[in-house]
Order: sequence, then C-alpha cells, then structure tokens
Amino acid sequence: MDLIYLKKLDTEKANTLEKSIYNRCSVRSFSGKPVKLNTLSKIIWSAQGMTNEPKRRTTPSAGAIYPLELFIISRNITDLENGIYHYLPEDHALDPQKEGRFTESLARACFHQTFIQDAAFAIIIAGDFEKTKQKYSERGERYVFMEAGHACQNMSLIATNLLLATVVIGAFNDKELRDLLNLGDWYPIAVMPFAYEK
Ligand SMILES: Cc1cc2nc3c(=O)[nH]c(=O)nc-3n(C[C@H](O)[C@H](O)[C@H](O)COP(=O)(O)O)c2cc1C
Repeated sequence: MDLIYLKKLDTEKANTLEKSIYNRCSVRSFSGKPVKLNTLSKIIWSAQGMTNEPKRRTTPSAGAIYPLELFIISRNITDLENGIYHYLPEDHALDPQKEGRFTESLARACFHQTFIQDAAFAIIIAGDFEKTKQKYSERGERYVFMEAGHACQNMSLIATNLLLATVVIGAFNDKELRDLLNLGDWYPIAVMPFAYEK
C-alpha cells in the first residue's frame, strides 16, 4: 500500500492557533523585562479559567471535578507585589499567600535549575488527587496528570502567542516545593517559569 501524504502546514497562510503550535518551543533564557499583570491574567486563565459554559473551565476535567490548584510566584510583574498567590478560577482572582521573593527558593526546589530564578513569574500546578480518586479510584490518579498536561499546553501556546518564553519543569523535589507553597494535601505536578526571552 502506498503512503498517503498529508498536506503540510502552509506557515504563510496559518491561522493564529496553528502559528502558536508551530512556533512553540522550550526557552530557558530569560530577560529582566517586566511582564504586565494582564499578561499573567491571560496565561493563568488559559490553564483553569472559566469559559462560556456554566461552571466549566478552559481545560477538560474527568467528571468535571477540577482537581487542579494553581499557584503563582511573582518576581517581576508590573502592579503586583512579589510573593506567592493562589489562583481562584471562579473569581478570576489571586489570593495572596506570602510576601517576598521566592524564585531563588523555587529554582533550588527544582534541583538548582538556576534559569528559573530569572523568571518574571512562575506557575505551579498542584493536584488534589483524592478529589478525583473519590469518583474514579486509582484510575483517577492518571486523570489528574492528564489534566495537568492540558493546562501546561494551553499555557505554552498562549505564552507563544504573547511572545513570552516558557518551559515545562517536571524535575523538582516534591517536599521542598510542598513546603514552599504550603500545599497540605495537594501534590505538585508541574512548574512553568515565564519571562521575555533574553
Ligand atoms: C513532563 C515534562 C517534564 C520536563 N521537565 C523539564 C525540566 O525539569 N527541565 C527542563 O529544562 N525541561 C524540562 N522539560 C522540557 C523538555 O526538555 C522539552 O520539552 C524537550 O527537550 C523538547 O523540546 P521543546 O519543548 O522545545 O519541543 C520537560 C518537559 C516535559 C513534557
């Protein structure tokens, strides 16, 4: 049987979403240029914000249970104090947790991936695994990881569209990150630092 060749993306005619998918790549070199609060707002919204559908969010969730919790560590955002914030999707608001500069501690918790400390801000995705496992038992665990992947990809694509650099970080010390964010029963799944590229 002959191969059926598919039409390749025409980058000249590509739409905005196709261009973001085509151009997305991991960037680990961050400039000191500040990032606007509204840019952070768009990125966090793409991960867990509310949509047109009542009680639904920008990424799918098994059983519409929504076990993901998002935290922001800000270092260089205009009109936002440096600190740690918890994202409240239904209010589209940031709930302040701790004041201060924490990107160095974050980089240490990520096994000294030092570029992370230069991020204008970082978003940490944590999961409330018990919430989904109550309905889906052990299989619920994989659903929470799948949902975090959706959130990471949305943030990557919208960051590309906004000309912001980012990379998904999976290498970190769970305990250090849980202590830094006071996560309690929630477990960290992914870290994404954001900044303009150097
Ligand atoms: C689950 C996951 C974990 C990752 N962890 C790290 C990490 O800890 N540090 C890092 O620099 N990159 C990390 N990456 C980024 C990969 O190295 C990167 O996606 C890969 O090299 C492909 O490059 P691209 O993203 O530019 O296409 C991770 C990516 C994924 C999906």
